[in-house]
Amino acid sequence: MFGSAPAENVLSPDRIALLSDPKTPVKMVFKWTTPFDASTEQVCTKIAEAFGLSVPDIQTVSPKRASVLISPMKKFKPAFSPPAFSLLVMDRMKGTTLSSLTKENFLKFNLEAWQRMMRHFGKASMLDLFIGNFDRFVRFDRCVDGSFVLVDNPSANGGNAIISLTPQRGKNIAGISMIDTNSILHPSRESSSDTDAFVGLDGLFEDGCCTPPPKKTPSPLKPQGNKAEDLHQFFQTMVLSVVNREKILLDHIFKSILKSVKEGCESWTQEESDLVLKQLEDSEEALQVGLLEGLEQLKKREFLETAQKIAEEEEDIAKDLLDYLQLNSKFLLSL
Ligand SMILES: Nc1ncnc2c1ncn2[C@@H]1O[C@H](COP(=O)(O)OP(=O)(O)O)[C@@H](O)[C@H]1O
Ligand SMILES: [Mg+2]
Repeated sequence: MFGSAPAENVLSPDRIALLSDPKTPVKMVFKWTTPFDASTEQVCTKIAEAFGLSVPDIQTVSPKRASVLISPMKKFKPAFSPPAFSLLVMDRMKGTTLSSLTKENFLKFNLEAWQRMMRHFGKASMLDLFIGNFDRFVRFDRCVDGSFVLVDNPSANGGNAIISLTPQRGKNIAGISMIDTNSILHPSRESSSDTDAFVGLDGLFEDGCCTPPPKKTPSPLKPQGNKAEDLHQFFQTMVLSVVNREKILLDHIFKSILKSVKEGCESWTQEESDLVLKQLEDSEEALQVGLLEGLEQLKKREFLETAQKIAEEEEDIAKDLLDYLQLNSKFLLSL
């Protein structure tokens, strides 16, 4: 997993508590994170909600107030000791993450389930591009010259999409939610140095799941140029590729999902692999429909105004993120 806050102790698995007692209707998630990460996640999640995605309702508890919860938390997890971080309190979304679905789940899916999923993922990908989220289906990275590129050989982070299955033997999908909705335009990374961002992004290449693009190689050297403008250029290119029905983004997302599905289900037989690949290929058209639907949704003036307002109301938000949203909005309205 990558793209999380830089401090090592933030990445401890103990920082996330999934509270779910079958005897009570209370299902919540506590996520400890840096104050800047908390604001960005809250803003991006609210923008995703305005866009029409199913996301958790998130509230932020300040580090001072959150510290009183450390002692009760230790009863659940004795090793738990976060530093002075904010606490995000959110609904626990119903279902299983895409990365936790089993081979049996995937093999049961009918074509309608695949199509529904791909259409939804296409739509969510347009929102992710709009806010600058590289931690789901679209995987991008920054090069030394400052430009952003789609990474080669991508694998989706299925941990950030939650699928709930229909009760009838799990053949279809009842709902899809998105969690961990965040942006690369992050105040804590930007204020320390851009090298920090690369520490996070280097995670892309650690397990060999994604290799850097052949010519433009991301580097730990600080890239020159304005990050918001550079990312906006990339956004424009991606949007125009969708408008012109080019396959660059479509192929990237398709490969990214396929790779993560296969990675999650080791020991596929050739027959199983072929079956799932066929279903996925048959739903590629739905992914294209989702991308176009997402673009139409992004172009709505009402959505763009709401997104801007949500970001402006948050005082800890990165200026880069505000600039990026503004540049994107202007461009979308000119289409
Ligand atoms: N709101 C939520 N509802 C259900 N599960 C969640 C929720 N938030 C987090 N999780 C679970 O915890 C995991 C890690 O949370 P996430 O917010 O993705 O943190 P990280 O920044 O470490 O990726 C998710 O992959 C998911 O399994
Ligand atoms: Mg995550």
